[in-house]
Amino acid sequence: MSITILGIESSCDDTSAAVIRDEVMLSNVIASQAVHEAYGGVVPELASRAHQQNIIPVVSEALKRAGVTPEDLSAVAFTRGPGLMGSLLVGTSFAKGFTTALNIPLVDVNHLQAHVMAHFIKRSPDDNTQPPFPFLCLLVSGGNSQIIKVESYNEMTVIGQTIDDAAGEAFDKVARAVGLGYPGGPKIDKLAKEGNPDAIEFPRAKVAGSEYDFSFSGLKSSVLNYINKCEMKKEAFDRADLVASFQNAVVDVLVTHAIHACREYNFEKFAIAGGVASNSALRSAMSKACEDNGIKFYHPSPILCTDNAAMIGAAAYYEYKAGVRSSWDLNAVPNLKLGEK
Ligand code: KG4
Repeated sequence: MSITILGIESSCDDTSAAVIRDEVMLSNVIASQAVHEAYGGVVPELASRAHQQNIIPVVSEALKRAGVTPEDLSAVAFTRGPGLMGSLLVGTSFAKGFTTALNIPLVDVNHLQAHVMAHFIKRSPDDNTQPPFPFLCLLVSGGNSQIIKVESYNEMTVIGQTIDDAAGEAFDKVARAVGLGYPGGPKIDKLAKEGNPDAIEFPRAKVAGSEYDFSFSGLKSSVLNYINKCEMKKEAFDRADLVASFQNAVVDVLVTHAIHACREYNFEKFAIAGGVASNSALRSAMSKACEDNGIKFYHPSPILCTDNAAMIGAAAYYEYKAGVRSSWDLNAVPNLKLGEK
């Protein structure tokens, strides 16, 4: 009998619902919240209010596009954490209410595990582009930058991570400093195409004593200092060159660390996940580095890298098949770590 899961994602500022049937994505609806643009970053209170407005229309649309009714569902899955508490609570409460009304199981999902599980979302029943276990995955998003050993759908070990800012956070802060607005990653990605990535030499930080860890706060400060110096001297700078050089420094560090980890741990399969994994410069640099080193490179389509509910449904599908059922009294956990339930 087929398994049909409704996935719900509301950890930050995207309200998303998706229907997954036996690993195949039948629908994936994402409502992004434009309200934060005016503030240059996510305002938690506004995010949870927007989730409340969006959740019912988004779920209705996901069911409609998938051609399923609530009675066809085997279970409802939701993001338990990590994320913003007010945002997580909207998805958590909705999932609890919906499963209670339908008298079907509830499955809680770890958002970080789900980013990796985006690789297992099939476009059709004969889609076999998924990476075979084990593989190494670089998860780079607004809240995380981690290198993860992936042994199975729920056995994941972090071997390196950022000791300060996440890569996406650095993109967002630099974008704000040059007046590009929020979210900064896609805007830097676009503007960088017009700039020279070697115009300004920004630092590539190394973390003493831990070769797989990252540090992006020094790079971010260096970009901000560069802008301040230019402003003090009343010198103009080329925004495209600046963001291209910043992006180049981030990509360089991510690629170097990832390839080093693949070599040291003997991985011939490497995957990327998370919002920053949709960055075009990172995708092409990683693709080339993997090719040069005889490593097979796996990359979900950009829409499945940024926050979406299809990855929640995909992660929950494996949990559900393994017999995992969540209790109706569990709560959202804003600082949930990879590997924690
Ligand atoms: O995975 P995601 O949607 O949310 C989290 O789980 O954090 O990642 C959002 C982050 C933001 O910091 C955003 O600026 C960044 O991913 N991002 C990008 C790109 N698209 C999104 N960064 C660089 N280039 C992109 N094309």
